[in-house]
Amino acid sequence: MKGDFAMCGIVGYIGEENATPFLLDGLSRLEYRGYDSAGIAVYDGQKIVVEKTAGRLEALKQKLEHNPPAGHAGVGHTRWATHGRPSDRNSHPHSSCDGKFIVVHNGIIENYLELKEALLSEGYTFTSETDTEVVAQLMQKHYTGDLLGTVRKVLAIIEGSYSLVFMSAYQPDRLICTKKDNPLVIGLGERANYIASDIPAIIAKTRRTYILSDGETAIVTKDSVRIENSKGEPIDKKEFVVTWNAQAAEKGGYEHFMIKEIYDQPKAVRDTLSGRIGKDGHSVVFEELSWTAREMEKIRKIFIVACGTAYHAGMVGKHYIEQLTRVPVETDIASEFRYRAPIVGSDCLLIVVSQSGETSDTLAALKEAKRLGAQTLAITNVVDSSIAREAGKALYTYAGPEIAVASTKAYTTQIMVLLLLAVYMAQLSGSTQERRLKEIVAEIKCMPERIHKLLEDVDPIKVFAQQYAASEDVFFIGRLLDYAVALEGSLKLKEISYIHAEAYAAGELKHGTLALIVAGTPVIALATQEEVYEKTLSNIKEVKARDALVIGIAMENDANIEKYVDHAVYIPHTDKYLAPVLAVIPLQLLAYYAALSRGCNVDMPRNLAKSVTVE
Ligand code: AGP
Repeated sequence: MKGDFAMCGIVGYIGEENATPFLLDGLSRLEYRGYDSAGIAVYDGQKIVVEKTAGRLEALKQKLEHNPPAGHAGVGHTRWATHGRPSDRNSHPHSSCDGKFIVVHNGIIENYLELKEALLSEGYTFTSETDTEVVAQLMQKHYTGDLLGTVRKVLAIIEGSYSLVFMSAYQPDRLICTKKDNPLVIGLGERANYIASDIPAIIAKTRRTYILSDGETAIVTKDSVRIENSKGEPIDKKEFVVTWNAQAAEKGGYEHFMIKEIYDQPKAVRDTLSGRIGKDGHSVVFEELSWTAREMEKIRKIFIVACGTAYHAGMVGKHYIEQLTRVPVETDIASEFRYRAPIVGSDCLLIVVSQSGETSDTLAALKEAKRLGAQTLAITNVVDSSIAREAGKALYTYAGPEIAVASTKAYTTQIMVLLLLAVYMAQLSGSTQERRLKEIVAEIKCMPERIHKLLEDVDPIKVFAQQYAASEDVFFIGRLLDYAVALEGSLKLKEISYIHAEAYAAGELKHGTLALIVAGTPVIALATQEEVYEKTLSNIKEVKARDALVIGIAMENDANIEKYVDHAVYIPHTDKYLAPVLAVIPLQLLAYYAALSRGCNVDMPRNLAKSVTVE
């Protein structure tokens, strides 16, 4: 069986207070990363006490209720198993045979099996199937009295991707942490310092952080943080001050993160647009890009590569870039891209889209495209994320932390950046469509308000969601940009309500799927794209002729659609290019309220995790 590795949440504390409360609170703020077991390890003054269990964090809290470990240094971990069942013994933290070394880990040690066999032959015993335990044993094997030196020695032996935090009873006044391809953040406190996989775990304690880069190692004590590069040379790390307030990472009064983030969209789009439209009011400016017209001319082909919702945003971006710049664009699902021998060269631009900036499939595709010589650009929501750092350039969405597993505000802000980028590229290459570009930019500026207006009245959607929540199958249809949005609507409904849904190019129905349409089958038809409106109407008639139940999504000035559908949901009138940003919102809400009606765990749907850092 392939190594039992996990994608998880990590926390660490070293300071003058008791570590345990921070460890448990920090882990609970990382719940969205998906987990099925949890554990903590605390140095109690004599030894390291490890407490861990399968199940939700609650199970661990109950286990600790009467006799929680106490001490000034500790680490915690929540695990989302991808290989091997969740179990107590596979939970982290993992310790060496002699109990003197503790490790928590996110990622995979590729060569753990051969290392484990060698350790077994030398008499080491193991209690778990995980790759992480091998790291703890290696610490014991190679310890020479210098903890940092031992960590470096072990890092030279292991191969793979990881964020690791080490603790030792030999030197309990420090934690050592390092990362490669997985995130790790250090929080700078008063008489204490913090470590975490993600900012929400520490935001209640401090906003001053160091975001570790690949190969960097941090030696963290209660009153110092020293960061070294892979050669052991000290680094003068730039502090990253988190501007999100504590509420931003909490639910802010909403019942779920997902509905909060749906309603965050006016602000998320506004923040993403800020500073990106020039003083003249119509030119797009990206301070992160310093492309010249000459460099633009050299780009013969563009790839947009991503996963899930980000891929659907990429499909929208393809239309924008092709129609405004006439440069051919291929969209690829990241896990397919690098295995299909893509035809990529130095005249290509690869754009990766990723909310988390940590998706392994997308990171791997990015590295492959770089290897093939392409220029690369990341569109991501997380500053200094692995993907942001790996790409040649990064354009950020400023959606703020997206905690719900189902991506909403990340999608709409990704689309905004892709449209800004298309306009920027068109303006740079001296496009003759100057008036058209000005029209688009004028409408881009109105989007926060249009989204806000759309969100003022969601009751009809709530009613439809409750009506259709018991459906077995739902179909989403549309053409061109509406088809790209239909795909996203279908994913939203599937992943949080568990209703089977499929999206189809509306013109494709008659080539097979129409056989599935029977009386009462719910069909969501998007009809916002003027140039194919009549064609879409005829597809609506096709399904109505089979007595489907049709919800039409159209622009508010459309006086025609309601003659053909059972229910019409209107979005504010906007430019056809901006329609996806608005049309997706009723679909997000439909999924949310359908999931509520079905009693699903909206923010943490079964089997899924927020950031998929495994392949
Ligand atoms: C979206 O609702 C899903 N949670 C999932 O498809 C997600 O979009 C995908 O895993 C990509 O994540 P990323 O944007 O962080 O790379």
